[in-house]
Amino acid sequence: MQIIHSDPWYVSEEDFPRRGPPVERWRFLLQYAILAPSSHNSQPWLFHVQPKQVELRADQTRALPVVDPEDRELVISCGAALYHLRLALRYFGFAGEVELLPDPDRPDLMAVVRWGGAGTSTDAERALFQAILLRRTNRRRFEDRAVPAPLVAELQAVTEAEGAWLDVLQGDQRLALADLIAEADDRQMADRRFRRELAAWIHPNRLVSRDGMPAYASGVTAVVETGGPFVLRTFEDSGTQAAIDRRIALGSPLLAVLGTNQDGPRAWLQAGQALARLLLLACAQGVSASYLNQPAEVAELRPRLANMLNRTGFPQLILRMGYGPEVKATQRRPLSDVLV
Ligand SMILES: Cc1cc2nc3c(=O)[nH]c(=O)nc-3n(C[C@H](O)[C@H](O)[C@H](O)COP(=O)(O)O)c2cc1C
Repeated sequence: MQIIHSDPWYVSEEDFPRRGPPVERWRFLLQYAILAPSSHNSQPWLFHVQPKQVELRADQTRALPVVDPEDRELVISCGAALYHLRLALRYFGFAGEVELLPDPDRPDLMAVVRWGGAGTSTDAERALFQAILLRRTNRRRFEDRAVPAPLVAELQAVTEAEGAWLDVLQGDQRLALADLIAEADDRQMADRRFRRELAAWIHPNRLVSRDGMPAYASGVTAVVETGGPFVLRTFEDSGTQAAIDRRIALGSPLLAVLGTNQDGPRAWLQAGQALARLLLLACAQGVSASYLNQPAEVAELRPRLANMLNRTGFPQLILRMGYGPEVKATQRRPLSDVLV
């Protein structure tokens, strides 16, 4: 995988201002936080930097009210950025200290992060950190090659270490999940407001605004807003969105549901941190991932998704994983846009 040094967000670890003022150090570390994945690449985070701490705030102006009416995926995205920040802190020699949802009167305050004294990162943490610049959501076809069982076990272990779980579907469960994804696609695509919201985030102008998904990254070349549920994929496939996603699900070497035992902002932040950690581990091992979240997004289908799993709890995200071709990075807004 190639790191493109001319990318506006390219950051070199050589530039860490070790002897600079704390606020400058935080700003440097935040460049890694903003490379986290986020729903529709909405980057729904804001950071308030002070010498001793950084506040991570949810940016409600970037909510996706149709696909994510409870801000569940928005908070998960903030959790992913939080994990990147934690990892960067460790990499540059700080223990890091995190308080989740510290103030009930400020529900948008997701976390406060402090330096937490000196700390030494492990080899595993350093490998994950190196993957931050390389990780991309990969919506292309994956090779017909299994993800090795020991790696799957490791992905499950890191997910659990962050307070979430990863349930891997097998045999008939995969078929049932693929059918549920197709059903959810049909429902979402039949909703004109859903199509509009999606289209707004894959508009070509997004290349300038540095958020959302440019067509090359989304795997979608056109969303016809008014003419009906019609989405064209860039990869060699055709049919309705439901038929395409059903085939993609069944053709994925690994289909897994990331979930939590509870539901609500704290659990969503845990899910987001778990997601970031497992994606970086997968990336470090050459494994790509993308999402088929639709059944978790359609309120009536989420309980049915929960029922088909090997455990109880709340499904948050559906991931497909495997070995795919290289894909380009998506844009990020400059750090200055997300500082308050
Ligand atoms: C909570 C969450 C939900 C997401 N849902 C989807 C999804 O349903 N479909 C999809 O193709 N990508 C999904 N993504 C991936 C984002 O579109 C992707 O992270 C973003 O475009 C930035 O690109 P990158 O991951 O390559 O950096 C999701 C990401 C997050 C964090």
